[in-house]
Amino acid sequence: MNKVSQHGEWTSRWSFILAATGSAVGLGNIWKFPYITGENGGGAFVLVYLICICLIGIPIMMAEIVLGRQGRQSPINTMRDLAKKAGAHRYWSLVGWLGVIAGFLILSYYSVIAGWAMAYVVRVASGMFDGATGDGVKNIFVQFISDPEKLLAWHSLFMILTMLVVARGIKGLERAVKFLMPSLFVLLLLLVGYSMSQGAFGQGVSFMFNLDFSKLSGESVLTAMGHAFFTISLGMGAIMVYGAYLPSNVSIASTTLVIVIADTLVALLAGLVIFPIVFANGLEPASGPGLIFQTLPIAFGHMGFGAFFGTLFFVLLVFAAWSSSISLIEPAVSWLVENKKISRMRACIWAGLATWFVGVGTVLSFNYMSDVTLFGRTFFDLLDFLTANIMLPLGGICIAIFAGWIISKQSSEEELGLPRGGYYEAWRFLVKYISPAAVIIVFMNVVGIL
Ligand code: PHE
Repeated sequence: MNKVSQHGEWTSRWSFILAATGSAVGLGNIWKFPYITGENGGGAFVLVYLICICLIGIPIMMAEIVLGRQGRQSPINTMRDLAKKAGAHRYWSLVGWLGVIAGFLILSYYSVIAGWAMAYVVRVASGMFDGATGDGVKNIFVQFISDPEKLLAWHSLFMILTMLVVARGIKGLERAVKFLMPSLFVLLLLLVGYSMSQGAFGQGVSFMFNLDFSKLSGESVLTAMGHAFFTISLGMGAIMVYGAYLPSNVSIASTTLVIVIADTLVALLAGLVIFPIVFANGLEPASGPGLIFQTLPIAFGHMGFGAFFGTLFFVLLVFAAWSSSISLIEPAVSWLVENKKISRMRACIWAGLATWFVGVGTVLSFNYMSDVTLFGRTFFDLLDFLTANIMLPLGGICIAIFAGWIISKQSSEEELGLPRGGYYEAWRFLVKYISPAAVIIVFMNVVGIL
C-alpha cells in the first residue's frame, strides 16, 4: 500500500533532489562553514567534518528519508504512527517535537543572517566597495550590525519572503531552485578563479587542508559534527518532511549521495574562495560570523565587473538561504495544518510571527545586547550552539536508533531497495551502531566524561 501525503507529492526524483539540495545548500555552506573553519584552526577541523558527513551524515540522511516516506506526514505524526505500527512507545513522537523546535529556533537566527545578505545586495550594487581595503570593509560591516533597526527591517523582510513561499505549498519552491542552485555553483567557480589570482591561494589551501591536530579541541570536534548535521539539514525533520512527499519508486541511496556531494562541494568551494582572500589581505581567519561579509566585498571591489558579480552573488546567496529557510519551518507548518486543522496560510502567519519574535533576540545580540552573555555566549551564539551542536545530533541519533532498531528490518530494506552486495547490511550497521556511538562519544568527550 502506498500512502500519499495530504500536502502533495514531488513531481519527479529531480524535484526532490532540487528541493532537498535547496534545503541543504544555504548559509551553512557559504557563511557558516568558512567562519567556523577559521575559528577552529582549519585542516583538522575540515577533516573531522568530512568524516562526520560520511559516517554519520549519509546513513542518517537515508534513515530520515526512509522514515519520512513511510510516514507521509509531518515529522511528529510520522514518528508517532511509525512507533505505533512497530509496537514502540508513543514517546518517539518527541523526536518530531525536538525537530520542530530546532527548526523554529534555527530559522529565528538564520533569517537575521539572510537579512545581512540582502542588505549586502544593495551595498555591493551601489558600488560602495569599489577599491575597498580590509579595514574599510570591516568598518562598513561593524557599522551595519550595530544598527538594530536596519537588521530588524531586513530580518522582517526575509521572514515575510519565507512565509509567502511556505504558504503556497511545496509547488512554489520546485521551480525557483532549479535555476538558482546551478547559477550559484557557477558563480562560486568564478570566484575561485579570482582567489587563485590573488597570490595567497596556496596559503588558503594549506589552511584548509593541512592537518594540525593540536588546534583541535573537544569542542571543535563537536562543532564539526554539529555542522555536518546543520549543513545537510539533518536531525530535525526537514529531510523527513521532504521525504514524505517523495514518490515511492525513487532510490533513496543515490538521491542522498547527490544531495550530500553537491552540499559538500559548495562548502569546500566557498572555503577556497574565502581563505585566499583572508590571507592576501592580512585578515583574521577567526573573525567570526562576519567573515564572508568582510572578505568577499574586497574581491568584488577589485575584480573586473565586481559590482555586477557581487550583486549576483549576494542575490544567489539570498535565494540559497530562502530555499533552506522554507524547510526549517515546514515541519512546524505541516504539523499545525494536520493537528490544529487550520489553513496553511494561518499556520504560516502564526509560525512566522513566533519565529520573527525570537529573531529579535539575535538582532539585539549583535548590538545592544552584545555584552549580555550566558555561559560566555551571546543570545545568537547560544542559540546556534544549542541547535546545531546539541539538538540536531540528538535528533539524529534518535532517528538512527529508530530506523535501525525499532522499525522492522523488512520495512527499511524494502524502502531502501538497495542492490545486493552488502549495501543494505552496511547501512544498517552504520545506523544501528556506528552513527549513534560516534555522536555519543563526541558528546561525552565534550562534557569531560571521556
Ligand atoms: N542546511 C542549511 C544550510 O546549510 C540549514 C538548515 C539546517 C536547513 C537544518 C534545514 C534544516 O544553510
